[in-house]
Amino acid sequence: MGCAISDLAAKSDFEERGTDDVPTQLSDAHIQMIKDSWKVIRDDIAKVGIIMFVGLFETHPECKDVFFLFRDVEDLERLRTSRELRAHGLRVMSFIEKSVARLDHLERLETLAIELGKSHYHYNAPPKYYNYVGTEFICAVQPILKDRWTSELEEAWKTMFQHVTGLMTQGYQEESTRQHHLSLSPKERPEKKSTAL
Ligand code: HEM
Repeated sequence: MGCAISDLAAKSDFEERGTDDVPTQLSDAHIQMIKDSWKVIRDDIAKVGIIMFVGLFETHPECKDVFFLFRDVEDLERLRTSRELRAHGLRVMSFIEKSVARLDHLERLETLAIELGKSHYHYNAPPKYYNYVGTEFICAVQPILKDRWTSELEEAWKTMFQHVTGLMTQGYQEESTRQHHLSLSPKERPEKKSTAL
């Protein structure tokens, strides 16, 4: 299964770019375009959630192994009618909905996405996979938006996903450092410099 994400940049280019070398700054125009398109997308959130995850597992089967419920499912077509995948897709889509609602208060989106990155540390879902979700989201919503889809809208959604996944990565790394610190014995922990006399 393919999708025409490549108008603006190659699909793999979007997925493999780091968060340092791309503009993750959302402009006012991006924000407005995202909000307008969300009004159309939200009527189909369950469908988009499923298409997105089936697409993710098709293009990156290694991601399926992270999910206890889906790792043993060989026939991906079966997942299209799975209640569990529908529920999971809806959780992710509801996060996207909350993110869209916070676009005018980016500091609130920041807190939400950093916390999500921390939970993903505990789900064993590492940052190298996060960009794939943005790609699959774009592939899933393009046919829904039909001729409303433009290269500017594609750039807006990519920028939003890069912003969110950059923050998730930050949360994941913070949690990883915290857990590493907790796993060290008190002797091994770096000494805290005390300024007390
Ligand atoms: C933009 C990227 C992603 C977003 C926005 C996202 C969002 C979410 C949300 C909202 C949840 C529900 C639980 C919670 O709020 O903590 C969740 C759970 C989970 N995610 Fe992600 N996720 C992303 C990428 C990934 C990737 C790439 C993987 C695996 C390779 C993954 C694996 C999981 C797992 C294992 C769970 C827990 C199981 C479950 O809730 O059914 N996530 N994710």
